[in-house]
Formats: sequence, structure tokens, C-alpha cells
Amino acid sequence: MKPVKVGVLGLGTVGGGTVNVLKRNAAEIARRAGREIVVTRASAKDLSKERICDTQGIILSTDPMDIINDPEIDIVLELIGGAGLVKEMVLKAIENGKYVVTANKSLIALHGNEIFAKASEKGVIVAFEAAVAGGIPIIKAIREGLSGNQIEWLAGIINGTGNFILTEMRDKGRDFDDVLAEAQALGYAEADPTFDVEGIDAGHKLTILASIAFGIPLQFDQVYTEGITQITRLDVEYAEQLGYRIKHLGIARKTSEGIELRVHPTLIPERRLIANVNGVMNAVLVKGDAVGATLYYGAGAGAEPTASAVVADVIDVVRALTSDPENRVPHLAFQADSLADIPILSSERFKTSYYLRLNAEDKPGVLADVTRILADHHISIEAIIQKEPVGDETAIPIILLTQITLEKEMNAAIAKIEALQTVTGKVNRIRLETLK
Ligand code: NDP
Ligand code: HSE
Repeated sequence: MKPVKVGVLGLGTVGGGTVNVLKRNAAEIARRAGREIVVTRASAKDLSKERICDTQGIILSTDPMDIINDPEIDIVLELIGGAGLVKEMVLKAIENGKYVVTANKSLIALHGNEIFAKASEKGVIVAFEAAVAGGIPIIKAIREGLSGNQIEWLAGIINGTGNFILTEMRDKGRDFDDVLAEAQALGYAEADPTFDVEGIDAGHKLTILASIAFGIPLQFDQVYTEGITQITRLDVEYAEQLGYRIKHLGIARKTSEGIELRVHPTLIPERRLIANVNGVMNAVLVKGDAVGATLYYGAGAGAEPTASAVVADVIDVVRALTSDPENRVPHLAFQADSLADIPILSSERFKTSYYLRLNAEDKPGVLADVTRILADHHISIEAIIQKEPVGDETAIPIILLTQITLEKEMNAAIAKIEALQTVTGKVNRIRLETLK
């Protein structure tokens, strides 16, 4: 049989890694796919740049459209990133009958509904395993491996850069900006690294995971996102003293009222496996009604781990090239005409526990005022600690852990606590999940 011809758009971290893996493992890949797979064309912005891959035998150009419009190309790998121009490129590739593999979570989270509809109309596949959690085959695990389950919730460390920063800050006391610069140099960070540290990238990934877990359309605009820039060393230390780690989690949970979609720093008990996922590693916990809790772990970013997922998609696509388009695994796990219109809950309707840190004057009655406000809002306290003043401060830090409560009640209570004359500054609030 003729080899399958692949065109690669983007020869950066992921594109370069993918070319390397396709070349190095070509024989093994052909045995798995049933056909030889060859990269014949590739594009990048600046062809004079040094590459991490060998481009010998590959026709290079600066215009991705040269590849998209080449009738010889069977599969287009979109490894450029961004959701603007690239969307038009992918739609054009589909229009031209190409199969597409992408690692681009922003593209899928923002435009996936339109892209998959177009792909189904044209009878082609758009595969996106690398878009979530780098090298972990989490899309395949949920879409196929867990397809007999009702998924109840999932929670994951789904941004490698953020986890790398939190780990280095905690373990080595390093500076936020210094660690971020290293993550960029290692090729982990997004082109705009605020996507990593403000939870936008994790929000894109959570959008995709929630869609394939619950059979709902992709709806990034409904995800609550909070970044890691407000986490202080003090909070990390106090959390540890209480037996918790702070991780930046993406959480999707189906409740009787609707679905919670949230990305935020979270205290989790240190005995949970996921609390011990460090550096650029990612992990996703998925709870199905039949299987129970399952955990998936691996590198969340980087050239070859991500290439592993891209190449697996290429092999899947090659295997499906001759299959009936009506009988393929649906893009979003559920049949396109069976997606459910389940409401996504606003953040005020989230139910979770909290860690609160506040600074208060060291005098009688202060603690009683705080606990009375919490009681007025039906918030039960799980633990309370009063610490020594920090440095020259006269105010004393008070740390509280609460039981599960409605976020609306917590917002109102925090506003009242901050208004107390005896409390200085803002209450630092971090959500807490036991992940039982
Ligand atoms: P890079 O910035 O390393 O690579 C992007 C590539 O696209 C470069 O080769 C660049 O050319 C090329 N490019 C950029 N703009 C254009 C353009 N207008 N026309 C043609 N080529 C263009 O990004 P990554 O490899 O890190 O990321 C690629 C995608 O993979 C993104 O969607 C990202 O979110 C996703 N991803 C990244 C992971 C990672 O670990 N880095 C992991 C999982 C997903 P040149 O090299 O000449 O500048
Ligand atoms: N910037 C992303 C991360 C790349 O750090 O997780 C992998 O999606």
C-alpha cells in the first residue's frame, strides 16, 4: 500500500518532537498502523531557525496553505497554536478533505463545535489527544476506556507549567518569575504564559474533558478560572502544617442541579496520590459510577511526551482512513445528535470546603466575631489555628478550614469578615477538596 503522507504545520517544540518520533519509530509505527507514515512537507515562520528535528527529505515552506492545498497530503498536523488564523487553516484543510491532528486546546475549546461539525460533514477526523495533559492518553481513556460509565466528576493537574512553578517554589523556595522563565526555556509554556499561570490553558483543557465526560457541547466561556499568582509562601506552609498541598486543579463535577466547571488553586490532603504529582507532570482523577476512581499520570508538556500523543492520533487516523465515517468513535465521545443541554453552574452555586487566612488584632472577641459571621451563613468550621505574628506585624494570622458550603454564603461571609474593624486586609481564600 502507498505510504500515508503527512504535512506538519509548525516545527517548534511539539512539531519538532513529532517529526523526531515519526522518523525514529517509523518501522514500529508502520507495523502498528498497517501502512508507512511519512512526513513529506512542513512549515514554519522562519526557515533559517535551528530546529530540534532533522528536516532532511521534507519540503519546507513558510506558508501553511502550501501544505493544506497540496492534494498529495493525507493528514495535516496543526502544531502552530492560537485560535485565530489557525481556525481558518483547519477549516480549509477539512474542506480539502484532509484528516487533521492537533495539539491545540484553545482551538478545540473555542471552536471545536464548529470544527467537528464540519469534519463530520466532510467525513474526516480531527484528532486532539495531545490537547489535554500532554503525553497522557486521557482523551482515549475517557472516550473509549470508560465509555460504559456515567462519569460523576474529574479533577486534574492539567497544566505542566503551573505545576512546575508551584513545585519549584515549594521545594526550592525559588522565585515565581525565575521558574516561569525556565518553563518557557524548556518549551512547556504557552506562547502567552499568562494562559498557564492564570488558569486559561487549564480552562481550555477542562472544557474538552467535561465535554467528553458528560456529553455536553464545548463551552469554555462557562468555565470559572482563577490563577496561581495569588498563592503565597505562607499559605503553602500553613497548608502543609494542616496536612494539605496546594495544587492548581481543573474540576468538573456533575450535580443534581448542573455541572461545575472550575479551575483554581486547591488544598488537597497530602496523602492523596495526586497531591504528590510534581514538576511538569500532570495527573487526572476520573470517577465513574462503575469503575470507581481512576488516576492517569504522565508528562503534561514537552516535545516528545506531547509527540507521543500526536503520533498515537496519527496512527488512529491511518487505521480509520478506510473505515465508514458513520461508524467511527465520535469526536466528543457521544453521538453528535445526543449532546445534552445540562446547565453549567455559576460560581456562586459551587459547593466546596475552604481554607481561609486572615490577619486580626490580638484581642478578646475577635475570633468570636469571625465564627459568629460564619455561623450566620451556615458555615461549619472544621479546624481553626491562631499563629504567631509574622515578622514585625502586630496582627495575628488566623487560619480556618471549613466544611462544604455554598460559595454564595462564603462570599457573603468573607465580605462581612473583611468589614470588621479588627481584621486587617483581605481574607485569603483557597478552595479545599478531599477528592474522596
Ligand atoms: P512553538 O512556539 O514551539 O512552535 C510553534 C511553531 O509554529 C513554530 O515552528 C513557528 O515557526 C510556527 N508558526 C507560528 N506562527 C506561524 C505562522 N503564522 N505561520 C506558520 N508557522 C507559524 O509552540 P509549541 O510547539 O510549544 O506548541 C504548538 C501547539 O501545541 C500549541 O497549540 C500548544 O498549545 C500545543 N501544546 C504544546 C505543548 C508543549 O509542551 N509545548 C504540549 C501540548 C500542547 P518558527 O519556529 O519559525 O517560529
Ligand atoms: N503550556 C502547557 C502546559 C503545554 O504547561 O501544560 C501543555 O499543554
